[in-house]
Amino acid sequence: MKATAVAPSNIAWVKYWGRRNDALVLPTNSNFSMTFGPTKTNPEGMHTTTTVEFSDAFDMDTVIIDGKEADRNAYDRTVAHLNIIRGLAGVNYRFKMESRNNFPYGAGFASSASGGAAEAYAASEALGLRLSKEKLSVLARLSGSGSAARSVHGGWVMWQKGEREDGEDSHAIRVFDENHWPDVRVLATVLDDKVKGVRSAEGMKESVESCPLYALWPSTAESDLKRLIPAIERRDFSTAGLIAEYNCRALHAIMLATREGPKDRPLIYFAPETIALMKQVHAWRAEGLEAYYTIDAGPNVKVICMKEDEATLTDRLKSLPFVKNVIPTQPGPGARLADEHLF
Ligand code: DP6
Repeated sequence: MKATAVAPSNIAWVKYWGRRNDALVLPTNSNFSMTFGPTKTNPEGMHTTTTVEFSDAFDMDTVIIDGKEADRNAYDRTVAHLNIIRGLAGVNYRFKMESRNNFPYGAGFASSASGGAAEAYAASEALGLRLSKEKLSVLARLSGSGSAARSVHGGWVMWQKGEREDGEDSHAIRVFDENHWPDVRVLATVLDDKVKGVRSAEGMKESVESCPLYALWPSTAESDLKRLIPAIERRDFSTAGLIAEYNCRALHAIMLATREGPKDRPLIYFAPETIALMKQVHAWRAEGLEAYYTIDAGPNVKVICMKEDEATLTDRLKSLPFVKNVIPTQPGPGARLADEHLF
């Protein structure tokens, strides 16, 4: 009763922000991402490897992440997630889970999408559940990080919000595989590798509850998505890049207009350098160097470009005094099982 899975991270081009059902992690809008795959200059890609073993010889659940015992929050989240999977299999065995991220140390990128998908895949396989990719995506969603639902698939992925109350139709589907448009690059640009901001789950809850603009978000995202998919289908980089960039700014407008709440803490994920880099990308574009950006719930920026501009942009990014690291990615394959276990 032991299995290991490797799952990649992903970046949304049309973002998920807000749940219609908190406990079931059901989004208010469908959203769309590119799965991070390895490139020539980054042959490892960005992924999480997770081994899960169930046994009646264990007398407690154990969670190890990157060589250390998980903190209370991560432990509780993992146990809650694996309780669902134990429930599906109808067993009560305790588990041991070990998870390792290959993200460059201190990269400042969340590992929850790849982590949630790897956990769902390894645990369900260890219990012999043999789920379809759709069911696996539902289970990854239930890790608590909705974006994990997308990491099950490779290439270009849509998490369809679904209509059902029980969430069974709220899962990701692969829209185009990783070979559809291999020349796209996302340069994950590290500006700040330490900031621990407000978790997305918490931030989006505050937006849903208090942002006066939130009512506009689901329809904005759905209309961006409707235009983005055909642009990706015809490999129209200028249209796709602009939609991704706009959708990111619309998301951050929602965040900025979210009320402070009792702790008097506004939801500003940008660092000063984030804005500086956004302006810089616009300036490069005005010069004819075609690049766009997208930014999640943190200060780091992902610069989107085509293969032919990757080297120039990487050099220009690295020459900026506030850029700490640039990690290239391209569309890659989805989660898979591995024969080699971590323990
Ligand atoms: C802004 O709850 O899926 O990245 O914060 O990494 O746990 P974690 O992710 P999740 O929220 C993701 C929010 C987002 C947009 C997106 O990825 O769609």
